[in-house]
Amino acid sequence: MFTFRRIVVAVVCLGFLGVIGAGALYAFNRAYYSSQIAETAAPAPTAGQIARGHYLALAGDCIACHTAPGGQPYAGGLQLNTGFGLVAASNITPDKDTGIGGWTTKQFILAMHRGIGDHGKRLYPAMPYTAYAKVSDADLTDIKAYLDTLPAVHHDVIANQMPFPFNIRLMMVGWNMLFFDLGGQQYKNDPTQTAEWNRGAYLVQGLEHCSTCHTTKNLLGADESGKFLQGTDLAGWWAPDLTSNKRIGLGSWSEDDIVDFLKTGANDRMVAAGPMAEAVHNSTQHLTVPDLHAMAVYLKSLPASDDSAPSPVPANIPAMVAGRAIYAENCAACHALNGTGVPGMAPAFVHSPSVQAQNPENMIRTILAGGHVAATEINPTAASMPPFDWKFTDAQLAAVTTYLRNSFGNAAPAVTADEVAAKRKEIGARATN
Ligand code: HEC
Ligand code: HEC
Ligand code: HEC
Repeated sequence: MFTFRRIVVAVVCLGFLGVIGAGALYAFNRAYYSSQIAETAAPAPTAGQIARGHYLALAGDCIACHTAPGGQPYAGGLQLNTGFGLVAASNITPDKDTGIGGWTTKQFILAMHRGIGDHGKRLYPAMPYTAYAKVSDADLTDIKAYLDTLPAVHHDVIANQMPFPFNIRLMMVGWNMLFFDLGGQQYKNDPTQTAEWNRGAYLVQGLEHCSTCHTTKNLLGADESGKFLQGTDLAGWWAPDLTSNKRIGLGSWSEDDIVDFLKTGANDRMVAAGPMAEAVHNSTQHLTVPDLHAMAVYLKSLPASDDSAPSPVPANIPAMVAGRAIYAENCAACHALNGTGVPGMAPAFVHSPSVQAQNPENMIRTILAGGHVAATEINPTAASMPPFDWKFTDAQLAAVTTYLRNSFGNAAPAVTADEVAAKRKEIGARATN
């Protein structure tokens, strides 16, 4: 009885301290917010600033997340699955009630740099402020000037759909301390590198936020340190390694290969698909060639990730023999018998990083369901790949995938029928006729 009472007292005391702590944190957060957003009236933006802001907003791909399917551009509502629950992107049109119409430029910069929204509301990092923290005040000022020219759309978004305890936004104060506050600073030029390299690093690390998709996340959803752009699984798609790794990264791509891919959605080796096709369509195709070239120079300078190349699966095992026959009859018309593809139309498989990727899921998905080349202004008629789900069994598709991964100079672990079966189920592909 005595111990029980002591426990109750201890719990009540802890609870009380917790409430005081939370209250103090809340009050501090409010005060901090007010101190950060005071500003003197700024001159009205020029037409040049607004045009620059438009370009930068395209680079930041704001429209991709801030537009619901079928909804008004930038009016928010798209739901993002964070792995801890859903969060909907906000309305960032200049509507005063439901958008960011009443916001000052300083308020906007605080949201973009620190993830702090209206009244000190902590944003979830599904909004990539961890990357946008690198962007200069001047660039963010221009983006805000552009957003202010959009039609104001009245659209009330219920942002926070997370379950308890993740729905407590103040928890993000702790998350930021762990993963962000120390590193989350504006980009600083590296004086040992060229101006072009610095421009590329600024864009890739900042507005373009390539790491949102291409960097592995830790258990709490932050970028894993030391794994920058080394590839990761992305809800059913594999976002490949972008370091200079020769086998699975961009080591064998030239700077122009990278520019062509980001500008047109295709190059002589590869075609953008799925989430990357969207990134090209919404964002990278709109960048100037000098900016894309700067990004390529920076990407090519990233040290190669660790990789011990496996030896190729022998060409005479049954799966390889069966895969070769399927390839010759069904695929070679477009991809060519020697795997060289058709430049700008059907991708090549020779020394292909995407074919040798740590995870073969993009290939399996494409062979099952087919796919389209990204449509861009330069490349408007998108070629397509027919689906083969109806035609081949899991074992047959595993054989042809294994064959691609171990021919034309490639070497990568064999693919099993189980992997194909799992993907078939995941994407709702048809069963074999
Ligand atoms: C990967 C998805 C994604 C991208 C890209 C993105 N955002 Fe967001 N943004 C979000 C989400 C999700 C929220 C809501 C977060 C929350 O409520 O915690 C948000 C919130 C915001 C907010 C806070 C609004 C408010 O009412 O509190 C601003 C401002 C904002 N984003 C601006 C931008 C701009 C400008 C860009 C482009 C440079 C951009 N975002 C790109 C996902 C994204
Ligand atoms: C929304 C998520 C997403 C974003 C943002 C994104 N990527 Fe990708 N990327 C992918 C996925 C998924 C693939 C694999 C599909 C494909 O091959 O097109 C891919 C493929 C690529 C490839 C082809 C690599 C190969 O080995 O075949 C390159 C190059 C690339 N991305 C560069 C970039 C760069 C540079 C950025 C930033 C400007 C970026 N990506 C931003 C998801 C993304
Ligand atoms: C009619 C022409 C055509 C035929 C036939 C065809 N493909 Fe494709 N393939 C394409 C096009 C176009 C793309 C690019 C679209 C995409 O990636 O979604 C593509 C993409 C791919 C990719 C993804 C590229 C990469 O590097 O990851 C793979 C893998 C692939 N095809 C394998 C096959 C296999 C295996 C067959 C035969 C069973 C086949 N294709 C038959 C046109 C074709």
